[in-house]
Amino acid sequence: PSHIYFSRHGESQFNVLGRIGGDAHLSPQGVLYSQKLPFKLKELIQEHTPPNMEQNVTVWISTLKRTAETAANLPFPKMMWKQLDEINAGVCDGLTYEEIEERFPEEFNDRDGDKYSYRYKSGESYADLVERLEPVIMELERHNDPQHVIFIIGHQAVLRCIYAYFLNYSHAELPYLKIPLHTVIRLTPKAYGCVEERFKINV
Ligand code: F6P
Repeated sequence: PSHIYFSRHGESQFNVLGRIGGDAHLSPQGVLYSQKLPFKLKELIQEHTPPNMEQNVTVWISTLKRTAETAANLPFPKMMWKQLDEINAGVCDGLTYEEIEERFPEEFNDRDGDKYSYRYKSGESYADLVERLEPVIMELERHNDPQHVIFIIGHQAVLRCIYAYFLNYSHAELPYLKIPLHTVIRLTPKAYGCVEERFKINV
């Protein structure tokens, strides 16, 4: 594609509670984001779409409710990918970081020591996630229609992996990259590397 857009889902009820994983609905702020998103996205796409050309956009979402709810007002075809689901936190799914530290102090420490390789008990590591996302990246690379825009509505850990791939971040840096809520990131692939722009939407 000529441009790759991506954003985390709007704020979820679990984000508000500081709980990881799960399959929560959007919070009221998250719903506001889903309402403002179509206007911002159309405005951004217009910047690089020739006049009278149709906006040729596909929205990729995960199988989790918060991404579908964020995409609900976007008037474009959607494609659901299981591979785009958030990192599986296994036994820690649904807990806060404080609860994890309390219940699994050693695990908590191990994750701190090597966040990229640390695999949640009965769950995944960032390294696992990078492997799981390979087909998604391949599909992104395969799309070479310059008029086609792909907009991915994803999750924090998943988007860190995709972002790190296109901007060449190391495995050590990847799990700490900042992908804030309510921000659209636009990547424009160039001959060497990608140009990145960020657009915060105030809700
Ligand atoms: O808190 C939101 C979230 O997407 C969790 O579902 C996920 O476990 C976490 O972020 C990933 O971030 P980190 O790897 O920094 O814990």
